[in-house]
Amino acid sequence: MLKKCLFPAAGYGTRFLPATKSMPKEMMPIVSKPLIEYGVEEALEGGMADICIVTGRGKRSLEDHFDSNFELEHQIAGTSKEELLTDIRTLIDSCTFSYTRQREMKGLGHAILSGKTLVGDQPFGVVLADDLCINEDGTGVLAQMAALYKQFRCSIVAVMEVPEDEVHKYGVIAGQNISDDIIRVENMVEKPTADKAPSNLAIIGRYILTPDIFELIEKTEPGKGGEIQITDALMKQAQQGCVLAYKFKGKRFDCGSIEGFIEATNYCYEKNHTS
Ligand code: UTP
Repeated sequence: MLKKCLFPAAGYGTRFLPATKSMPKEMMPIVSKPLIEYGVEEALEGGMADICIVTGRGKRSLEDHFDSNFELEHQIAGTSKEELLTDIRTLIDSCTFSYTRQREMKGLGHAILSGKTLVGDQPFGVVLADDLCINEDGTGVLAQMAALYKQFRCSIVAVMEVPEDEVHKYGVIAGQNISDDIIRVENMVEKPTADKAPSNLAIIGRYILTPDIFELIEKTEPGKGGEIQITDALMKQAQQGCVLAYKFKGKRFDCGSIEGFIEATNYCYEKNHTS
């Protein structure tokens, strides 16, 4: 039912300068795998094999990553190094990739709107690859949300509890509990100060969106920071219909920040590379 997954990846990644001066933030590796590859794996696990990436200037290596590199592959053919490419080859064979550019960085809402031409008139997943989500105990976060979408057929945002002094970094929701981990959204504020936050439930970089969101974004004026905020468009959708917030199972690392990136690196290294 959900086939497409959109990856807004046009941001400048200024917190990682100078690394991101000519390299996309989404190509930064957690150990030896780029962030975007973790995200595509998660989308595929959720049944979304049509990968739509919103890129910008200087992001061409994203396209190269999801393509063959004949020279390299020829060079290492038959050696022990070949197996290092097994996972990415399987991923490339299992997905289709399409790209569009966001020509001006006008915010996440605008980046999602730029993906309309790739997504069309169907529900879709959204992954912000700099949020790395890992659920060691089972199903990935996007697959959890896809299962929920089958039941409720409306937009869903993934949320987690954050300390009060961090709410100003996120979109924050409040609403009615449908169950322990599902909330019907009634209020949503982008990057509130602690005293204006409606709760401590912060939206992270995983969404399922219904296609009417595009029209709502088109009608959304620039908000916080002068950017077109997806949170503002989602708030309208919540008022007109239904938006759910889902307390996902698993861990989330904020790899858009230096601390989160290091934490994720240590976690993945310990998990996969130490015995
Ligand atoms: P961030 O604000 O975390 O990313 O946007 P950034 O701007 O690249 O990072 P810093 O703050 O300068 O270090 C969240 C996600 O939305 C995308 C980013 O690529 C990132 O995946 N985004 C944001 C866009 O694609 N376009 C935009 O105009 C803004």
